[in-house]
Amino acid sequence: TDPAIIRNFCIIAHIDHGKSTLADRMLQLTGVVKQRDMKAQYLDRMDIERERGITIKSQAVRIPWEVDGTAYCLNMIDTPGHVDFTYEVSRSLAACEGAILLVDAAQGIEAQTLANLYLAMENNLTIIPVLNKIDLPAAQPEKYALELANLIGGKPEDVLRVSGKTGMGVEELLDLIVRELPPPVGDPNAPARAMIFDSVYDTYRGVVTYVRVIDGSLGPREKIQMMSTRATHELLEIGVSSPEPTPSKGLGVGEVGYLITGVKDVRQSKVGDTVTTFHKPATESLGGYQDAKPMVFSGLYPMDGADYPVLRDALEKLMLNDAALIYEPETSAALGFGFRVGFLGLLHLEITRERLEREHNLDLISTAPNVEYEVTLEDKKVVHVTNPSEYPSGKIAEVREPMVSATVLAPSEFVGAIMELCQSRRGILGGMDYLSEDRVEIRYRLPLAEIVFDFFDILKSKTRGYGSLDWKADGEQVADLVKVDILLQGEQVDAFSAITHRDKAYAYGVMMTGKLRELIPRQQFEVPIQAAIGARIIARESIRAIRKDVLAKCYGGDISRKRKLLEKQKEGKKRMKMVGRVEVPQEAFIAALTTD
Ligand code: GTP
Repeated sequence: TDPAIIRNFCIIAHIDHGKSTLADRMLQLTGVVKQRDMKAQYLDRMDIERERGITIKSQAVRIPWEVDGTAYCLNMIDTPGHVDFTYEVSRSLAACEGAILLVDAAQGIEAQTLANLYLAMENNLTIIPVLNKIDLPAAQPEKYALELANLIGGKPEDVLRVSGKTGMGVEELLDLIVRELPPPVGDPNAPARAMIFDSVYDTYRGVVTYVRVIDGSLGPREKIQMMSTRATHELLEIGVSSPEPTPSKGLGVGEVGYLITGVKDVRQSKVGDTVTTFHKPATESLGGYQDAKPMVFSGLYPMDGADYPVLRDALEKLMLNDAALIYEPETSAALGFGFRVGFLGLLHLEITRERLEREHNLDLISTAPNVEYEVTLEDKKVVHVTNPSEYPSGKIAEVREPMVSATVLAPSEFVGAIMELCQSRRGILGGMDYLSEDRVEIRYRLPLAEIVFDFFDILKSKTRGYGSLDWKADGEQVADLVKVDILLQGEQVDAFSAITHRDKAYAYGVMMTGKLRELIPRQQFEVPIQAAIGARIIARESIRAIRKDVLAKCYGGDISRKRKLLEKQKEGKKRMKMVGRVEVPQEAFIAALTTD
C-alpha cells in the first residue's frame, strides 16, 4: 500500500468518555462490521472487558474510507483507558501519526484526558479535539469546546461535535482524519523495522503480535528477529485485522498488522520491542522499549488447599497472555501454599483474580495488597521487600518507598478538600493551574502506598464525584516506615503483617486487633491478640476463655450418638488453622483480610 493513502490514528479519552462506542460506530459506518454482527464494543474481546465496559488490551483495525474519490486506508488503534495500563497506551500512540482527543460534552476535560494528551504530544502526534455525547441533554458543548481550545490551541468552533451513540458527526470525523493527519513516512528500502504495540495470546494460534512498520517491509515466511533479545522466529502468517484477521502479502512502510510466529509466550514478543529481519537486520532499534514494572503485590491463596496445583497451572497459563504479570510461590502459616503476585495496579489485580476464579473455577483469598520497599541494612546489604512478613529483622539503615506524581482535576470549590486529603497522605504540593475559572489542576508528589488503594474512592466522595485522578511512577524516597506484626498468643500471624508509616502504625494495630477479636471464636484458654513493632507492643485485645463441652448436651445419651458428635467436631476442625495452640477458622482470616 502506498503510504500516501494510509492514516494511522488512535482515540484517546478519559475513562467512560465513549471511546469504544465511537470505535464501534466507525466500524459500522465504514461497513467493516456488518450490522448483524455488531455487538456493543466489538473491539473489546475479553468477556471481562465487555462486562466491565473497559478496554484492557489494545487492538488495531484497518478501515476503508473514501474522500474526494480516493480510497484511503485508515488504521484505528484502540488503546486501554485505565491508568494501570499507561505503558500500553504510550506504545499504541507511538504507532500512530495522529490522535482523536475525545471529551465527553457533559463532563469536560478530566485527569486522564490530560495524561493521554501529554503522552500524545510527547510522541509528536497531530491532535484532533472532539466533543462526544452531544446527544445528551446535559451536554455543554460551547463551554467545553472553549476549554479544549484553551488547552491545545485553536478555535472553539473548530472542535468537532459528535455522538458515538447516534452516529452524528462521525462521517465528518473520518473525513477530518484523512485531511488533517499526515501520512506515515519511512524508508521502504532500509532494513525492516517494525514496532510491537501489542501482543496477545490466542489458544489456537499462539501469540499474535501487532506491529506498525516504520521502515522496509516484512513478508510471509520471512525469518524475523526481535531486536532486544536477538531471538529469531519464522513468520508463519502476516496479515491485517479488518477486523477479522486476514492474511496479506506483507506489510510495508506505515502499515499496521499482525504477525504469527508460533511462539507460546507473550514474553517472547514484548510490547515496545522492534522487529527486524534476520537476513537484513537493522542496526538500531526504535527505542523506547521497557519492561512492565509491577507496582502492587498481593498473596493469592486457594480457599481449598487441594486447589494449589490448579492455581499454579492457571497462573502459568495467564502469564502467557500477560507480560506484566509476575509471581513466585509463597507459603503462609495462616493460609497455606500460595503465590506472591505482582500487578500493575489494583484494577490489574482485580481482573487477574476474577479471571483465575472464573476461567479455572477457583475460590481465592488475596492478602492486603502492598507496594515494594527497598530496605538497606546497616551492613549495606539491600533487600527488596514485596511481602511484609519478609521484612528483614536485622539493623536497618534506611527504607525507601516508591513515589508517584499525581494530577487531580476538579471544580475549584474542592481545592481545600483535595489539599487536605493529599496532605494527610504525606503529599507534597507540586503546583496548581486553572484550566478555566471554575476548574483546577492540582499536582502532588505522593507515596504510591498512599494513593494506590483507597485514595481515588475518597477523592470521589470528597468532590461529590467530580474529581478525577491520574498518576505516574516518580522514583523512590526515604521514609520513616515500620513493620507492624499481629500476634496471637505470642505467635506472629504472617498474613496480617503490614509495613506502614510510623504515624499510622498504631491505627493499623488497633484496627486489626479489634477485628480479630470479633472474628476469632473463644478458646478454652484466654488468647491475647497483640500488635507489635519489633518487640514493642503497641495495641492489645484479648479473647476470653470458655469451656466448650460438646458431650454435655447428650448427658446420659447413648454412646453412638456421642461418637457421631465427636466425628462432627473433628470435621469442623479440618477447616481450622492452628496458630500456636490457638484454633482459628479459616473464615476468620478471610473476613479479616477483606476490607470493608
Ligand atoms: P473505556 O474503554 O473503559 O475507556 O471506556 P470508553 O471511553 O470506551 O467508554 P464507552 O464507549 O464504554 O462508553 C461509556 C458509556 O458512555 C457507555 O455507557 C456508553 O453507552 C455511553 N456513551 C458512549 N458514547 C455516547 C454518546 O455519544 N451518547 C450517549 N448518550 N452515551 C454515550
